[in-house]
Amino acid sequence: MAKALIVYATRKNATKSIAELIAEGMRFGGVEVTVLNVADVEKMKPDLRSFDAIVLGAPTYHGEMHPAMKTFLFFAENANLEGKVGGAFGAYGWSGESAGRIYETMKNIFKMDMASGPLMLKSAFIGGGIQMAQSYGKEIAKKLGASL
Ligand SMILES: Cc1cc2nc3c(=O)[nH]c(=O)nc-3n(C[C@H](O)[C@H](O)[C@H](O)COP(=O)(O)O)c2cc1C
Repeated sequence: MAKALIVYATRKNATKSIAELIAEGMRFGGVEVTVLNVADVEKMKPDLRSFDAIVLGAPTYHGEMHPAMKTFLFFAENANLEGKVGGAFGAYGWSGESAGRIYETMKNIFKMDMASGPLMLKSAFIGGGIQMAQSYGKEIAKKLGASL
């Protein structure tokens, strides 16, 4: 069974909700998913190399990604994730820079095999957000070999 790790940063849990829905979508495809708040990374010390896919999410505040995700990206840089499947997402209000910046870092610096684009949602619970987040998870599961 393919294994995936979703790490999210959040202040008000909008990005956490998206993370959980992406996880659901991946589980529909038979992927074993671990969802981790970035605040728990130091305690849990996940071995990033042991996952087939890594999906990272953070909200946008003042035009920037949540600072804990910036720190996590420096940590992940040392893990050699080249070729692993990746995805990026984030909750936003109006400009939403965060998801795209995470996505570009994973693609250009980590050289991961990325999903078709970043997933940006104002909320998981408006405008078809639930379906979009689950579909994103399914897309990643398909990249891992699921036939959905
Ligand atoms: C003080 C403040 C600044 C914000 N700045 C931005 C911003 O620059 N661009 C944007 O798209 N959304 C901005 N937002 C909206 C948040 O990204 C949005 O509320 C998001 O759902 C928060 O996600 P979270 O619950 O995972 O923390 C801001 C919100 C607050 C409270």
